[in-house]
Amino acid sequence: GKVGVLFGGRSAEREVSLMSGGGVLKALQSRGVDAHGFDTGLRSLAELAAEKFDRVFIALHGRFGEDGSLQGALEQLSIPYTGSGVMACAIAMDKIYTKLIWLMHGLPTPKYAVLDAASDLDAAAAALGLPLIVKPPHEGSSIGITKVGEAAALRAAYDTAAALDDAVLAEEFVTGREFTVAVLGQGAGARALPPVEIVAPQGNYDYQNKYFGDATQYFCPPQLDAACRAEMERIAVEAYRALGCEGWGRIDMLLRASDNKLFLIEANTSPGMTGHSLVPMGARAVGLGYEDLCVEILASARL
Ligand code: DAL
Ligand code: MG
Repeated sequence: GKVGVLFGGRSAEREVSLMSGGGVLKALQSRGVDAHGFDTGLRSLAELAAEKFDRVFIALHGRFGEDGSLQGALEQLSIPYTGSGVMACAIAMDKIYTKLIWLMHGLPTPKYAVLDAASDLDAAAAALGLPLIVKPPHEGSSIGITKVGEAAALRAAYDTAAALDDAVLAEEFVTGREFTVAVLGQGAGARALPPVEIVAPQGNYDYQNKYFGDATQYFCPPQLDAACRAEMERIAVEAYRALGCEGWGRIDMLLRASDNKLFLIEANTSPGMTGHSLVPMGARAVGLGYEDLCVEILASARL
């Protein structure tokens, strides 16, 4: 049938999505799929409905693509789509609600505070310690994130995040190694791909170091003892299932240097599929190439 690859969109991650979607479109076409690109940032939902796609591959990131709103529209239009449903997408797009769900399941995530215009920033810094991380809870690709080393810098970090979001998340800084684990499938069938370790210049895996240049190093499989790796994969699958994720996703985490304790950072229900992205690295490590990965994700599309 006719497949739509939805990309672009109108979130702050539009540029990333154009790279992801371009890669997915080319991969599916190379496998003989009747795939057509569709930019939800330039064309309306009415036009999407008129295309009469039999199913769509969602290669959108951030708001209006990864947050459940588009998934809801596709449900209304009865068009099967890849990835998680409305609720899991909506929760995973919000880093605060994500933490609440994980904490309810007894899963480890860094200490945090939710800040608004009335918050006492010095009190937050005292409670969480310095350095700390300030984030807009609904963005991706590190957009709007600041590592704050001294209390005097907290106001500017707050303002940067608040310009992008209604609430602001302040998180304890975890010193250690950075990993991500892709998960495929759903429910009891969810399975982890091997972890990818990310080693960014000065530990700064920001927008530039995520997508441009080659200063960031990736290790898959990483140097880890077998028990630690198994724990990482187990926690990733639990974190994914706790949110009700389906199809595919990616769980980001930190391994604290002082005691080898894992901390869950966030879930991505529509992870990057760019040439620098992480899910394709995990897949490649088990012999699943980029094209095969795209075909497998597409095959999981459902309503
Ligand atoms: N938000 C980006 C696309 C990622 O997590 O891969
Ligand atoms: Mg993200």
